[in-house]
Amino acid sequence: MSDVLVGLVSAKGSPGVTTSALALASRWPRASLMLEADPFGGDLRAGLGNGQWPPAAGIMEAVVDLRSTNLDAALGRRVHRPTEYSPPVLAGIGCVGQASTLPWSRIGTALARLPGVDVVADCGRFAVADGVTPLLRACDVIVVVTGSSLRAVRAASRIAPLLQEELEVRPGDPRVSVLVVDAGAPYPAAEIAGACRLPLLGELPDDPRAAAVWSDGDRPDRGFGRSPLQREARGLAGALAAFGDGRRGAA
Ligand SMILES: Nc1ncnc2c1ncn2[C@@H]1O[C@H](COP(=O)(O)OP(=O)(O)O)[C@@H](O)[C@H]1O
Ligand SMILES: [Mg+2]
Repeated sequence: MSDVLVGLVSAKGSPGVTTSALALASRWPRASLMLEADPFGGDLRAGLGNGQWPPAAGIMEAVVDLRSTNLDAALGRRVHRPTEYSPPVLAGIGCVGQASTLPWSRIGTALARLPGVDVVADCGRFAVADGVTPLLRACDVIVVVTGSSLRAVRAASRIAPLLQEELEVRPGDPRVSVLVVDAGAPYPAAEIAGACRLPLLGELPDDPRAAAVWSDGDRPDRGFGRSPLQREARGLAGALAAFGDGRRGAA
C-alpha cells in the first residue's frame, strides 16, 4: 500500500505556500503529516509555534535518528503537533545552508512509502537544483502555489515546465498542477493555469484572519473551522488525497 507525498512549491514573488500546506494538511481526509522542507529555512517554529517549539523536534534530528532507527520511530520522536487544530508537523531546517546537507532523495523515498500517512511537504520557493529538488522528484504530486498578480503569474509560468521535467510529466498531466491564492486579483484562476500550461487544482480565498492562524500562530476565532480558507482547503485536500486511491487499489 502506498500513500501520497504531495510537494507544494511557490514561485518567486508569491507568498502563501506555508499557509496553504498547513491548511490542506489540517483538512486532510486521512492521517497526514506536514513536512517543512523550505530550503531557505523553516518558519513554523516562530510562526505557528509562536517560538514555543520543542528544541529537538525537527527534520535535522529525525535524519540523525535514521542512522540508528527506522523512519516510524524517528517521526514518532520528532514530529510535533503544536495545537489541537494543527496537523502533526515535522519542522524544517534552522538555517539556509543546512538544506543541501540533508539526504532529500532518501527522505522523499521513505516518506512516499510511509504506511498509513499522507505527507504534505512545503518545499518553499522553487529554484532549479536547490537542495530539495530530489524531494520533489520523489513526490507523487507537485502543486505550484501562486497569487494572481501579473508578477506572480509570470514567475509561476517560468517554473512550471521545470517542474514537469522533474516529475517527467507532460503539460496537462494532473500530477503537476496549480493552486491560485486570491484569484481574481486581477487574473482569474483558469487564465493563470492556461498561462502556466498546468491543470488547475483549485483556488484558496484571500482570508487574512484564518491565514494568520497558520502563518503567525494567531489564536483561531470561533468561526475558524468554517472560515473560507479552511472550507476550501477541505475540498482541495480531498482532491489531492485521491491521488493515492488508484495506487492503493492497485496495490
Ligand atoms: N489565503 C490567504 N489569504 C490571506 N493571506 C494569506 C493567505 N495565504 C497566506 N497569506 C499571508 O501571506 C503571508 C505569507 O504567507 P506564507 O504562507 O508564510 O508564505 P510563504 O510560505 O510562501 O512565504 C502571511 O502573512 C500569510 O498570513
Ligand atoms: Mg513559507
